[in-house]
Amino acid sequence: MRTQVAIIGAGPAGLLLGHLLHRAGIDNVIVERHDRRYAEERIRAGVLEQGTIDTLDEAGVGERMHREGLPHEGIELLFDRKRHRIDLTALSGGRAIVVYGQHEVVKDLIAARVETGRPLLFEASDVAVHDLDSDHPSVTCVHDGAAVKIECDYVAGCDGFHGICRPAMPAGALKVFDRIYPFAWLGILAEARPSSHELVYANHENGFALFSMRSEKITRLYLQCEPEEDINEWSDDRIWSELHTRLETDDGWKVNEGPIMQKGVTPMRSFVCEPMQYGRLFLAGDSAHIVPPTGAKGMNLAVADVRMLSKALIAHYASNDDTRLAAYSDTCLKRVWRAEHYSWWMTSMLHRFPESTPFMDRVQRSELAYVTSSEAGGRVVAENYVGLPFAD
Ligand code: FAD
Ligand code: DHB
Repeated sequence: MRTQVAIIGAGPAGLLLGHLLHRAGIDNVIVERHDRRYAEERIRAGVLEQGTIDTLDEAGVGERMHREGLPHEGIELLFDRKRHRIDLTALSGGRAIVVYGQHEVVKDLIAARVETGRPLLFEASDVAVHDLDSDHPSVTCVHDGAAVKIECDYVAGCDGFHGICRPAMPAGALKVFDRIYPFAWLGILAEARPSSHELVYANHENGFALFSMRSEKITRLYLQCEPEEDINEWSDDRIWSELHTRLETDDGWKVNEGPIMQKGVTPMRSFVCEPMQYGRLFLAGDSAHIVPPTGAKGMNLAVADVRMLSKALIAHYASNDDTRLAAYSDTCLKRVWRAEHYSWWMTSMLHRFPESTPFMDRVQRSELAYVTSSEAGGRVVAENYVGLPFAD
């Protein structure tokens, strides 16, 4: 098989890149380890930044997002049993977010891909990349029981944190920056009407909790837990009881209960690999960087990367201009480090750290009081949460 760009991974990064390249007439093949059902049903992110919304619109795949997604103009921070609203739109010059599940974005992108008729190989095994430092790289895999070789001009590593592309870069070519947090998130999806229109991020002495939603009928909730938490230790009753404790307010607001449809534990880490390129391989999304989920930045960063990568590849093919490709890693890393700082900061402000001291608890409380009472403080939360404008 011969193509212009071989894309490894059919998460939001790989699928959106494939679609943006297709719209510019650039041939590409997407290779994915799992089956279509897995890709479409994996519950992960929920918050789309303004720039992500705009990018999906420009790519012609935003129609269902606007129809079914929930536009939000604020979030609430809960501490000392009181909710404090951050007016995202007023504090960010009119920007906003949409709550729409990542798996719905993935479904929309797969449907768009299938319509183009371009190859999307699900259940590909033994995926490997070759000759990245030459001008004729290739990808090999096994698909439908047959060995496949894809010769290409460029490889896009969109295969997430546990993929094969980053490890294929020589160790000496990479610098890695890493931080592991001493806690994880236990997340549930419940068949319950959301009891508030806006997301609530709570700092409680038992640990962080987050109230979110997916639709008018589905509530999404998270609890800070131990990093190696055994999900079997958490009965539904224990989960609801802890959620009620951490999300309790003086005004009587309460989370609605309902049957738990799904539960899982997500570890928390910050991770950046520099540069995001080696020879003809370009990394995008979680394959190059991870943020703790508190700032809702992971999928949005993946979208920002592939937006940049698609523009760089389009400039290469349309006008033989490689300036953007050469600047790809540096340009992306500026946004990545802004999101790394914000996600670390939101995580630090809202979670209980095992090593914390009464002094640090008071400092944390003071910071929460500041960002919810000062316009300058609120602006820092808001303009980062809705996402800063793109560099281009
Ligand atoms: P992935 O979605 O991981 O996709 C990578 C794909 O590559 C996968 O389909 C995988 O199967 C495939 N793959 C891996 N290895 C191979 C291989 N060897 N060969 C072929 N294919 C391979 N982000 C936000 O922006 N907002 C949020 O609100 C948010 N909340 C989150 C909540 C939770 C609980 C979690 C876990 C994450 C959250 N994130 C959030 C982060 C977000 O989900 C990720 O950043 C996003 O999935 C990154 O997209 P990606 O395409 O780079 O990687
Ligand atoms: C959701 C996830 C997040 O990480 C976040 O910060 C906000 C919402 C969610 O899954 O709805």
